[in-house]
Amino acid sequence: MQLASGHKGAILEGEEWERQKRDWTGYCKGLVRLEPGRWLFPAPFLKFGDKYYNFKFQPSDVVVMTYSKSGTTWMQEIVWTMRNNPDLDHPMTNTHIFARSPFLEMDMIAASSEKPPPANHPMVQAFFRMCPGKNPLDGLQLQITEVLPAPRTIKTHLPFSLLDPSLLDTSKVVVVVRNPKDVIMSFHHHCRLISLHGYVGSFEEFVQYFVDDDLMYGPYWLHLKEVWEKKDHPNLHLIFYEDLKADTMKELKRLDAFLGTGLTEAQFKNIEHHTSFKVMKARAEALGGDNEMFNADVLKNDGGFFRKGQSGDWKGKLTPELEAKVDQYVQKKLGDLQIPFQVLLSCLAA
Ligand code: PPS
Repeated sequence: MQLASGHKGAILEGEEWERQKRDWTGYCKGLVRLEPGRWLFPAPFLKFGDKYYNFKFQPSDVVVMTYSKSGTTWMQEIVWTMRNNPDLDHPMTNTHIFARSPFLEMDMIAASSEKPPPANHPMVQAFFRMCPGKNPLDGLQLQITEVLPAPRTIKTHLPFSLLDPSLLDTSKVVVVVRNPKDVIMSFHHHCRLISLHGYVGSFEEFVQYFVDDDLMYGPYWLHLKEVWEKKDHPNLHLIFYEDLKADTMKELKRLDAFLGTGLTEAQFKNIEHHTSFKVMKARAEALGGDNEMFNADVLKNDGGFFRKGQSGDWKGKLTPELEAKVDQYVQKKLGDLQIPFQVLLSCLAA
């Protein structure tokens, strides 16, 4: 199927699909591969993909664009709070992040499951409040994004090539990059935890999926390469998760300059506290709503969405063989870009 972005989408079949079907219990409607790029999405991307590509961004939008598990939610909360709630007195302070900062392409993932988000989920309730008379099947998060009053803070894991080509000339884009080994640790947990993915394969196989560019959303390296090519654009702000973790205040000040928020020292302190791992985790857990979408055993044994929030968690968990596999992948696919990953990759550092 031809898409507005110029890509062609083909439903995964044969051995490729058999492998995916064995290891992922969530993608009930199948997966679609887009070329060029090897992007991989749940099959409902074919219904929504053109809507994402044609989505009209506004000059006051800030788009938080990341590869999955790179610190998106943290950055959404930072940007939203800096722009809307620097004194922490906004009436929506304690509402679910997706009611304030929607996830543009969430609907293709939700539509791929036989179990849609429950009616009591804060995101679903926000839809009925904000989009009266609209059909949820046309996209809960997509339609919230459309009606959300400015200034909007929008989450996406889509790469530049699947979004409006004028995005960066229209809106500000904040990209968070995270060391791929920590991305793998976090993504593996996420795909086991969230039933919409329902990963039941082994950790070793998961690493293989990553280096084969066979995880949903497709190539980590290409997402990053597309960003890297645009990194000097004045509307693009690049942050490494590891830098944000190591010196949060320094990065908040860089962001303040980029966003033009002009925060006071007291407001910076508010943001730092309000968006810390501990405080965000406690707030999300008190709010609830997500647990029905989680695998109860994984939640109980290995934790929820806010798992560790650390840099370098992969150390001692990836075997030397798996580590070498990721190093070789990064070297081969991204070596020429000289990306200064903060937590060193073993063979690149050698
Ligand atoms: S998603 O689902 O792809 O949007 O996930 P994403 O938000 O990009 O990444 C989730 C990881 O970010 C960690 N996280 C944080 N780290 C530090 N500080 C704060 N405030 C914070 N909030 C979320 C979250 O715990 C996930 O990382 P891991 O390593 O799994 O803990």
